[in-house]
Amino acid sequence: MSKKKKIQSITGMSDILPDEIPYWQKIEEATKEVFGRYGFSEIRTPLLEDTALFARGIGEGTQVVQKEMYTFEDRGGDMVTLRPEGTASVVRSYIQNSLYAKDAITKLYYKGPMFRYERPQKGRLRQFHQIGAELMGVDSPLADAELVIMLARWVQCLGLKDVVLQVNSLGTVAERAAYLQDLTKQLEAKRDELCEECQERITKNHLRVFDCKNRSCQALCKGFPKLLDSLGEESKAEFNVFCDTLKEAKVEFSINPLIVRGLDYYEKTAFEFTCDALGSQNAFVGGGRYNNLVEELGGPATPAVGFGIGCERVVLIMQAQKAEQDASFQDGIYLIGLDENSFTLCRRLLQDLRDQGVFAEMDYNVKSMKSQMRRANKLRFKYAGIVGEEECKNNTVLLKNLESGEQEAVNVGDLGMSLVSGG
Ligand code: HAM
Repeated sequence: MSKKKKIQSITGMSDILPDEIPYWQKIEEATKEVFGRYGFSEIRTPLLEDTALFARGIGEGTQVVQKEMYTFEDRGGDMVTLRPEGTASVVRSYIQNSLYAKDAITKLYYKGPMFRYERPQKGRLRQFHQIGAELMGVDSPLADAELVIMLARWVQCLGLKDVVLQVNSLGTVAERAAYLQDLTKQLEAKRDELCEECQERITKNHLRVFDCKNRSCQALCKGFPKLLDSLGEESKAEFNVFCDTLKEAKVEFSINPLIVRGLDYYEKTAFEFTCDALGSQNAFVGGGRYNNLVEELGGPATPAVGFGIGCERVVLIMQAQKAEQDASFQDGIYLIGLDENSFTLCRRLLQDLRDQGVFAEMDYNVKSMKSQMRRANKLRFKYAGIVGEEECKNNTVLLKNLESGEQEAVNVGDLGMSLVSGG
């Protein structure tokens, strides 16, 4: 007999299986709850956009645009790209739909899949999910701090532990340009000691040298001047307000001048949340201020700040820290009918219970008590409802608490009530 070849999912694109869904739902609920409290509304944009949006928005020279985009010509001959991040799309929508005209300040959040052709590894996929937020219309360190405080509360709400927040200021565009000139000279002087990738970065993507994982590049970086030390008075003062506001809100952080971010649109505040439980890909949030992007994409000059959370990485942290007790019992009842009559009564009861809002399950065929009980235990039901000849005659169900082992006979008509009120 010929066996057909199995079709696999595409490399770096995973299924999210039912076992993992509780983590995702917890993340989504925390987002709606916490972000809602800070005045953010949800926005949903298409997965596919005009390639020019990302080339112009993220920056032609960036690694994402140069090497990682899923770009192709559609059937009409247009170049389109699967979004590698959410900010450029949100900004496009903000401009296209004149959201700025509704209120001077716009607070949006989004969630959904993003696509980057990266080398897959733990915590790094080609289709991954981000939750992001963008606050547009204000150039104030108070807005930057508000976002970071919101994130810290979100981390708390999810019960994530051992999380580290690192912050930096990248200065204004002018400050950065002057600094980069100086840095380029120093990089050139050490060209031969840099890794191949960093040698390329000297001309295109200087700041990313600070992000290089290569040990000898890291050692060299210690001796290069830091952007944070060459900021003007105003940028310095703003950064201080940002840090002081975090302290007031009891958000712990450290200043790391090496946080440079990988996309071109950033200036001034930049930040990352990391957790060692993740291994080498340890950043699960990245964000910062971007005051020129809206104008760059054809909108009115509008300052903005935002961040993106890598959901897969948050799930990895939750799993590592067992934030979700997967061994716990789930409220609900598994009905067990021991013969044809009992089984029919159970099927009717199943429907009634579901209509009353109770989570209820049972088999589709009469099977042995042992086999039905095995499934009830496997699904971690808190209750089993057993019906045999005796129960059928008395119109009762033997309600067994699988957690404590206690059992009692309950009238069929009272079953829903006793389950809703916790047995
Ligand atoms: P990003 O740093 O490129 O920023 O991505 C944000 C987060 O997405 C990262 O910290 C990481 O957790 C997650 N992430 C990125 N690439 C992958 C991948 N291949 N697999 C799994 N997770 C990944 C942005 O995307 C900006 N749009 C954030 C932002 C919003 N800045 C301002 N507003």
